[in-house]
Amino acid sequence: MSNLSRRNALSLGVALGLASVAGAVPAWASAAGTDPWWVWDDEVDTLMAGLVDSGGVPAVNTALRPWVNNGDPLPGGLPDGLAAHLRRANRLPSWADPAKLRRAADFNRRKDTYLFLLYGLGSGIMSTVIPREARSVYWSAGGANMQDRAAKTFTFGYDLSELGAFEPSGQFVVTANKTRLVHGAVRHLLPRSPHWRAAADEQVPISNGDILVTFHSLGTFVHRKLLEWHVPMSAADEEAFLHQWQVAIHLLGVRDEFIPQTWAEADAQSAHVLTPLLAPTAEGKELAADLLGLTAQIDLGVTRGFLNEFVRYVLSDAVGDWLGLPRDYAAAVLIRTGWPAYIAFREGLLPIAPAGFYLFDQFLRALAMLFLNKGTSPTSTPITIPTGNRPG
Ligand code: HEM
Repeated sequence: MSNLSRRNALSLGVALGLASVAGAVPAWASAAGTDPWWVWDDEVDTLMAGLVDSGGVPAVNTALRPWVNNGDPLPGGLPDGLAAHLRRANRLPSWADPAKLRRAADFNRRKDTYLFLLYGLGSGIMSTVIPREARSVYWSAGGANMQDRAAKTFTFGYDLSELGAFEPSGQFVVTANKTRLVHGAVRHLLPRSPHWRAAADEQVPISNGDILVTFHSLGTFVHRKLLEWHVPMSAADEEAFLHQWQVAIHLLGVRDEFIPQTWAEADAQSAHVLTPLLAPTAEGKELAADLLGLTAQIDLGVTRGFLNEFVRYVLSDAVGDWLGLPRDYAAAVLIRTGWPAYIAFREGLLPIAPAGFYLFDQFLRALAMLFLNKGTSPTSTPITIPTGNRPG
């Protein structure tokens, strides 16, 4: 890492109240003494490695295609080991609380526009400055087609945000289980990519620790921003939003002992393991340019300068500088003053519509449409297990 980017990383840490060495993987252990950086998903990984090596992946993808709703029976034509795994894993954990999950779904509906904005422009762009994630996404097969990949990632968020996401008629449990299989295949495939091996600082990607880091860039980050923006939330809403994410990361194969039990615990874990890791990479810069270019293809009713400044507003100038986002100072002022007033008006805390109201409103609506259309894909893009890596 260059001195300049190291300085940026350090100042980001300082701005967030953290003194840390950028680029180093922080020490981490659960109460039981296990380190999540060294835990993967043994059973799934063995199954997927066998399938990749035997050429069985395409047949499994075909068999899994019509399997969509949580309540759907498991399709035929799956190898015995995989079928047995899915029968065990394709259900909610015993500690899942249906009332909390229903409340979370209702919360997602009530706050949907903020969530679309924060997941899309906040978490989506943040993923490009999480070096391990950026490198693995870039060098895996999906990295070659960001449009398709973005659509699949939207599917995950969309299925999670649906009203009946965890009910038999919802799709989230199946989507999460398919994603878990994809991650298993990626753990076997990426170490064979000479490009990934040359760039990565690890032997096997997507450990439990990495998945938790990504959760913090999604759930923990969004929760903190909603508080920071004074978006009204009841304690029960906050708890339900956390619970939905606890169930989601369990379904992705994270051991229960690592899952934060409270937002305070999640915030502390995020400060320890996410913030110090943030740093630019060549791969991440290209992914961010692709993602922002994709967003700019849709008419969001705002200029590219406004979009860049919104990313800076949400993620900090340090991140904006890493990604080389050109400045638009007029848009920056409009966002800094107009956005808090827009939220206050929208939430009934301000009697008169502030300047810029319609601009922000149109922007939010356009982002919501983008999200509800499942990215830029006109049809739902099924999640499929990759059979190779991104070619050079
Ligand atoms: C694939 C979600 C964590 C790397 C996917 C897919 C989804 C997803 C929905 C399937 C869509 C696709 O094939 O593109 C998530 C969620 C996570 C998480 C919700 C955590 C909360 C991670 C982490 C890494 C990672 C930590 C790496 C450090 C990848 C890669 C693919 C993938 C490389 C395969 C892309 C391809 O098809 O080539 N993930 N993921 N994911 N994920 Fe994740």
